[in-house]
Amino acid sequence: MPIRILVVHGPNLDLLGRREPETYGTTTLEEINRSLETLATELDVELEIAQHASEGAIVRTIGEALDRFDGILINPAAYTHTSVAIRDAVAAVGIPTVEVHLSNIHRREEFRHHSFIAGVAAGQISGFGVQSYLLGLRALVSLCSS
Ligand code: DQA
Repeated sequence: MPIRILVVHGPNLDLLGRREPETYGTTTLEEINRSLETLATELDVELEIAQHASEGAIVRTIGEALDRFDGILINPAAYTHTSVAIRDAVAAVGIPTVEVHLSNIHRREEFRHHSFIAGVAAGQISGFGVQSYLLGLRALVSLCSS
């Protein structure tokens, strides 16, 4: 059976392309998803992609991933810096998780330097734009295959 990966995009990422292009670039979420699908085909893995504006919906999606997915690729967006609930959901399901960010959160405002998710993630990739997602998918797939 192929490796199954759940991709979760957090709030405001649906606005990519129009949202603060100087920080996030001009690539849309749809284009990011297409690049992920292309890489997934190359790596021979299955993807399911979700985007949610609300914390509760993200928590539910992660909870429902139990027994359905082998890995989670997540950009929790602003919830990275606030959400104990998403951290607990990742810890609860125990599915290997890679955290990604388009921007380098460590060279931005101080409130973005702390991630509640990092402590329960296998790793974090931050600052490479769309490549953060693609590098994250490669890392996750290699983790799931080992
Ligand atoms: C982000 C960084 C977060 O600080 C911010 O709230 C986002 C996007 C990123 O991908 O760079 O919404 O996760």
